[in-house]
Amino acid sequence: MKTNHAEQPETSRRHFLDWILKGGFLATLLGMFLPALTYLWPVTRRGPVGGMVEVGREDDLAVWGAKKISIGESPMILLRTPQSFKAYSAVCTHLGCLVEWSADKRLIECPCHAGFFDVEGRVISGPPPKSLVGHTVRVVDGKIFVKL
Ligand code: FES
Repeated sequence: MKTNHAEQPETSRRHFLDWILKGGFLATLLGMFLPALTYLWPVTRRGPVGGMVEVGREDDLAVWGAKKISIGESPMILLRTPQSFKAYSAVCTHLGCLVEWSADKRLIECPCHAGFFDVEGRVISGPPPKSLVGHTVRVVDGKIFVKL
């Protein structure tokens, strides 16, 4: 009995160290294989790749419709054409006014100095020196995602 009592702290310490080693080994294994597993998991099951933000549902936007969205501090315009969705920075490349979608003309226009952009974001007329900045759009399971 006396011997048992004397060995108990040693056994407990050994047990504790054993658990620490096993836990460390398990954490190392998880750290190695978890990134590989998330890479191999199909994109459609876990959503689009990182850095994309859900901005609405596919059904909410009619063909040739548009809506203003904002990701963080960045105002954007999201368009739906018969072929795809497109997202552009809503900041005009001339002097930074916010552009708007003109559904009847099917153009993006800047109200400040009559700058016009086509549905690809390219300058058609007016003072803007370059195209609107485009952003990647993906549709996964009916949800629209835009990359900043
Ligand atoms: S700020 Fe847009 S055309 Fe001047």
